[in-house]
Amino acid sequence: MKEPMKGLVISGGKGSRLRPFTYTGAKQMVPIANKPILFYAIEHLIAAGITDITIIISPETGDQIQSQTGTGERFGANIDYIVQEQPGGIAQAIGIAADHLEGHPFVAFLGDNFLTQGIVPQVHAFAAGGDEASIMLKRVPDARQFGVAEFDGERLVRVVEKPESPPSDLAVIGIYMFTSRVFDAIGSIKPSARGELEITDTIQWLLDQGDRVRADVVDGEWIDTGRHADLLTANRIVLETAPDDRGGGNVDEQSRLHGRVILQEGCKVVNSVISGPAIIGERTVIENSYVGPFTSIDHDCHIEGSEISGSVVLENTRIQHIQHRIEDSLIGRDVELVGDDRKPRGYQLILGDFSRVRVP
Ligand code: DAU
Repeated sequence: MKEPMKGLVISGGKGSRLRPFTYTGAKQMVPIANKPILFYAIEHLIAAGITDITIIISPETGDQIQSQTGTGERFGANIDYIVQEQPGGIAQAIGIAADHLEGHPFVAFLGDNFLTQGIVPQVHAFAAGGDEASIMLKRVPDARQFGVAEFDGERLVRVVEKPESPPSDLAVIGIYMFTSRVFDAIGSIKPSARGELEITDTIQWLLDQGDRVRADVVDGEWIDTGRHADLLTANRIVLETAPDDRGGGNVDEQSRLHGRVILQEGCKVVNSVISGPAIIGERTVIENSYVGPFTSIDHDCHIEGSEISGSVVLENTRIQHIQHRIEDSLIGRDVELVGDDRKPRGYQLILGDFSRVRVP
């Protein structure tokens, strides 16, 4: 293959499964260890030598993605954007990028997919030529919520979207490689019952035409970060291997830090204990508090007189004087969670739609 490969990150869509976080923001920008999910995808592309990247965005959340991601300078990449006016399916999103891709082979990367091991070997194998498409597969306990691959011996024969009885335990990861042949497929398939042009139908069309589709089963961790529990898992995975970096923070004499802790620029730790792995965001203040393992506190937060562990807290949130430890929780942006021991005791709550709160 002679032309260099390009990247297409697909980050439109509605994000309804991550509500309430995605009412005010793009699901691809929810942070894992204080870095938006989308940035991990961009970094994987760059690590595979792909620096010409187009991002598909939606009219609702595109501005946020574009303003935070920019032109790609900080990544050492060239990034531009295409607005997908309606979420007409992943294949439709790929279809509208045809002109941008100018006949180059490309990687289509779903912006909410999180993969630990990267895509370098797969990109190299595909770039060597011979295949019209390449997919990555991962064995999962329940394949019903994904595209699923079916083999006849060694040969990939079928990919089917969210089947009730999966033909195998091999889920199709949301990272695909295509030549421009894919646009023939997208032009030929029809919308599915849910009204979308499905990526699985696209791949099936290529298989039916006798085109070569490569399939690799990967071992590393793969998470479709569409749901809350998955996000906490991804956060754990990243923190598990994140290196200790306390350079950016200001820690007073009374505080104790154990294990691997990342203190980002301008954060302050006052009379507190942090048990890593954990990350404390820029300008965040941790005061008279305990931060336990596998916790990410994003930028500009204030945690005071509280204990929090195994949790992800988004930016600009205030947690003060909470009597019980906050565990395995996902707390959004600009939240105020404040303890109050005046009598009579009761809860005073302003919770958005779809919030989930468990109180003792
Ligand atoms: O995560 C892997 C799975 O992703 C695959 O196994 C499935 O075969 C594939 O269809 C897809 O399923 P999902 O149900 O997870 O797709 P979802 O609707 O969540 O969209 C995935 C990403 O693509 C998300 O970042 C939003 C974006 N998207 C989606 C649609 C339907 C768009 O940008 N435009 C769209 O029209």
